[in-house]
Amino acid sequence: MCGIVGYTGRKESAPILIAGLKALEYRGYDSAGLAVEEKDGIKIVKSVGKVSALKSEVSNYTLHGTTGIAHTRWATHGKPSTINSHPHSDCLGEIAVVHNGIIENYQALKDELIKKGHTFKSETDTEVIAHLLEEKLKSVNSDYENEFLKAAAEVTKMLEGSYALGLLWKKAPNMIIGSRVKSPLVCGAGENENFLGSDVSAFNQWTRNAIYLDDYDIVVLKENEIKIYDRQLHEKYYNIIELEQGLEQSGKNGYEHYMLKEINEQPFTVRSTIEAVLKDINTAFGITKDELKNIKNILMIGCGTAYHATMVAKYWVEEFCNIPCQAEYASEYKYRKAAMPDETLAVFVSQSGETADTVSALEKARAAGFKTLSICNVFGSTLARMSDHTFYTKCGSEISVASTKAFTAQLAALFSLSVLIAESAGSISTEKKGRLLNELAKLPVAIETAVSEDGSISKLAEKYYKEKTFVFLGRNVNYPIALEGALKLKEITYLQAEGFPAGEIKHGPIALINTDMPVISIMPADSLYDKMVNACEEVMARGAKAIAVTDEKGYKLLENRVEDVIVLPNVEEYLFPFISVIALQLFAYRIAKLNNREIDQPRNLAKSVTVE
Ligand code: AGP
Repeated sequence: MCGIVGYTGRKESAPILIAGLKALEYRGYDSAGLAVEEKDGIKIVKSVGKVSALKSEVSNYTLHGTTGIAHTRWATHGKPSTINSHPHSDCLGEIAVVHNGIIENYQALKDELIKKGHTFKSETDTEVIAHLLEEKLKSVNSDYENEFLKAAAEVTKMLEGSYALGLLWKKAPNMIIGSRVKSPLVCGAGENENFLGSDVSAFNQWTRNAIYLDDYDIVVLKENEIKIYDRQLHEKYYNIIELEQGLEQSGKNGYEHYMLKEINEQPFTVRSTIEAVLKDINTAFGITKDELKNIKNILMIGCGTAYHATMVAKYWVEEFCNIPCQAEYASEYKYRKAAMPDETLAVFVSQSGETADTVSALEKARAAGFKTLSICNVFGSTLARMSDHTFYTKCGSEISVASTKAFTAQLAALFSLSVLIAESAGSISTEKKGRLLNELAKLPVAIETAVSEDGSISKLAEKYYKEKTFVFLGRNVNYPIALEGALKLKEITYLQAEGFPAGEIKHGPIALINTDMPVISIMPADSLYDKMVNACEEVMARGAKAIAVTDEKGYKLLENRVEDVIVLPNVEEYLFPFISVIALQLFAYRIAKLNNREIDQPRNLAKSVTVE
């Protein structure tokens, strides 16, 4: 949520900042801006809309300067507008600030600053930082660099909430200060140039050397120097991490949208993730079988799509392990008084590893003394660094805001983990473990078949894309998929879509059903197939158009009883979520395309939600 880029070196900074912003655009795209240090002061250019709008705005100026900071925004305080977009400045226009996060005490700080005579231009929380720095620096007449650092340290101590910051001061040229608390910030160490970014994609086209900052770190970047300090301004030792090749954004590869590309990548990303686990399942998650043997409770936490993955995993864990497993929304878990039983394994699932709610939930679990394991896709992310153990899904970058390939890779990791826990706890035999993992290993072929259903799903989308409300039903492992199908559809089409456990509709949701409403039921020929057929009958009796997402066996049994069918390959019943979700991803994509939606960057959303 909001992307930050900083550059200091020998090259013109503006084109580098814009390229960095472009790579970070998935974090927010309602407005963007940059600040370049020119010879006679800091020049700020901003615009509403995407980075391309900023790029064309910048072309109206001749910006020259080798140090600058930039920002792409997802609005929290103040509507998207040029005034509210970052960088923000002080009264004198000598300071520039870019910020990702929320300053919770900004109103009190702002009131004080106004009393002292400061004039605010924007409605944002961020602007207080520029004025606080101005206050601290107003009587400084020498030792500008050092004083800027001291002022930054003092100001950050006054801030409550979360922040990643990039700061410039006219009187300390060729130097950027960065700092973070609960929002990600990474440095890139280049040759005669250094970078700052919300994540490595801000600079990985120029350098593959990254330095991940910890909470409360303050970093000073100059052309040939990176120094990191703690809050008391003691210099810290740091590690430079060499980024793996090949995990970065590689373009749309001929697809019209990243989402479609990412849906199509799933046979490979699921295969790579399964291979990474099966290389040695006993060590893949970092947690030993001895440790797992003693686990009495499992807590699974995530947000949005990642939460739906944890919901599916709950069914697997309780089916195979006979250990109580709870799937929780991170945003609910972190504020409720939850039971904290001993011997709990807390598993955190997140594509980005930066979701603020999930990070806070992890803090709570750590404070309770739980063993923590994260399943993340982004190397070096906050969750990964805070957890006792991390397993990385092997998806490469997921760019589309609507998560697709991360979900199926999370399922692959969670299924393997459930099997490992079950064996460690003595609930399944080694032979059964082998059989389950063998079924998992066969999945990429079925996933390929599911992806190839795009043609028939497109035809279905043509029939239904003008509808205003869609209902999704499922039971057992397919209930979370009903929720995920609805989430995908509403995210990228802005249409109303609701997912329910099929057995629940008679307790209320059936009142929604009216003539011709599409009701999509996920119903492979499993132990609950007949119950799902009943649900279809119930909604059809009230005029709905039933669409069955089933397998070949289920299709034969259906005998044309429903309006439309998506037929997927037969897989073991507990593995059907891997392929049914692909059909629903494609369905949402095709409906969004027919409705001319901004598929990769839907309104109001951001890929990585780093604020509460
Ligand atoms: C998925 O399509 C969403 N954009 C969203 O729900 C997402 O899954 C959620 O914000 C969690 O993100 P994370 O996996 O990066 O933690």
